[in-house]
Amino acid sequence: MNWDSDIIKNLAWSDTIINREGKQKVADEIAKKVKEGDVIGIGSGSTSYLALLAIAKKVEQERLNIKAIPTSIEIALACSELGIPLITLYEHRPDWLFDGADEVDPNHSLIKGRGGAMFKEKLMIRSSPVNYILVDETKQVKKLGSNFPIPIEVFPQALLAVEFQLNKLGLTELSLRLAKGKDGPVITENGNLILDARFEEIDNELEKKIKAITGVIESGLFIGHNVEIIVA
Ligand code: A5P
Repeated sequence: MNWDSDIIKNLAWSDTIINREGKQKVADEIAKKVKEGDVIGIGSGSTSYLALLAIAKKVEQERLNIKAIPTSIEIALACSELGIPLITLYEHRPDWLFDGADEVDPNHSLIKGRGGAMFKEKLMIRSSPVNYILVDETKQVKKLGSNFPIPIEVFPQALLAVEFQLNKLGLTELSLRLAKGKDGPVITENGNLILDARFEEIDNELEKKIKAITGVIESGLFIGHNVEIIVA
């Protein structure tokens, strides 16, 4: 039996989509890769959302059967609205994955996590053998950290202990991400807080050093991961 849900029927992307044209181009590009039977990891953010819409269109037109492993509630709800079956990492390893990014450097290192979903996004990238990162040209930077801070998901009671340790890594700016639509901080889908951090330098070891701090769940810094970049 199906739910008769107004929430699902009235779903829309939660914010204005910046540079929609560029994002639509990469979304249409990724939809071409979908094949019958694929289990696809679905990233988060507006580019991933547009890609999911393009994929859903193709699935309907060609009557394909695919399954999705989502990286956020927003994307899980969108899959539900579009009639794309959801599964978890318990049932399946993704055949491939697509996701967006906030910054991409010439070595294909990334900053992600503007939407706060970086933990599940990294878990999925580590789980999937093939990962496509979809970006419009505004996301390409010479040096990571040019436009965005690095988001760091932190176990709430470890907040001050994590700040203390981050200070030893050349921190230049740190802020607790505040919620819109709720008083106080953003609480992630895993029940944690997000710190947005800038550093004197982002070197190849910084991702590991941040992750090694007890209380850090994950960061939005992706250095040397197995990703293929698709640029609009
Ligand atoms: C979500 O947490 C992020 O990692 C997004 O993938 C990233 O912020 C890109 O978002 P847009 O596609 O909305 O620019």
